Amino acid sequence: MEGLLDTALANPWSTLNTLLDGPLHPGGTQRTEQLLDRADVGEGTRLLDVGCGDGDALAVACQRDAEAVGIDPAPSTDRALRGNATAIPVQTAQIDVLLAECVLCLTDLDAALGEANRVLRDGGRLALSDVVVDGDLPDVPEAVADALCLTGARSRERLTERIEAAGFEIQNTSDHHDDLLAMRDRVTDQVDYEGMLGLIGERGQRALSAIEELEAAVEAGDVSYVSLVATAQP
Ligand SMILES: C[S@@+](CC[C@H](N)C(=O)[O-])C[C@H]1O[C@@H](n2cnc3c(N)ncnc32)[C@H](O)[C@@H]1O
Repeated sequence: MEGLLDTALANPWSTLNTLLDGPLHPGGTQRTEQLLDRADVGEGTRLLDVGCGDGDALAVACQRDAEAVGIDPAPSTDRALRGNATAIPVQTAQIDVLLAECVLCLTDLDAALGEANRVLRDGGRLALSDVVVDGDLPDVPEAVADALCLTGARSRERLTERIEAAGFEIQNTSDHHDDLLAMRDRVTDQVDYEGMLGLIGERGQRALSAIEELEAAVEAGDVSYVSLVATAQP
């Protein structure tokens, strides 16, 4: 059982994919559609999906006849190249919209924003959604924090401040706490944490208390999810 837990934490996106069977961010495809609307993605838009995972958002963009490609350190769609948010394999000023859903919390934010600004043309749009945290992070083990995109999560204020400092003007923001609660419910409906972690002794008990602490933080809104669109300034 302990081996199963380690395997799940070592491959967090495929584990989450098994549970969610679709986009790996709160709100799923419906929120991707709204974010693409807000970033004005349509026919001919050159869109780069950074951290595209299985390519769900790329499929949505292609339905709009956008010219959409993705990058991911572990790409699993033929619409994506291997690449990293902090060293994007694309020439300068080539992109109209850079999409990053539930990804920048996993990277060096300033480096990723610098790269986003470099590859976007003047007036190009950054469309992102991310985990945000108010106050201290819940005391979850590092592997769990990594798997849940908590490691690099910042406060809303810190996130918007870094985006503006990187040369973007924020056009609109939206809070998706309800989507995070719904995603939590979908996962907890399918995973018997007590049954699973109760079998592996002290380590399991620590993980269980961490999950309870995290659930309380999500319920209270101290951990939430936001999206925003920002324009690259000349
Ligand atoms: C939570 S999943 C989100 C996947 C997809 N954007 C979605 O919303 O369904 C995070 C994705 O980011 C990718 N990722 C992790 N670190 C990254 C980095 N430094 N640069 C680009 N992508 C990264 C992972 O491989 C994974 O596919």
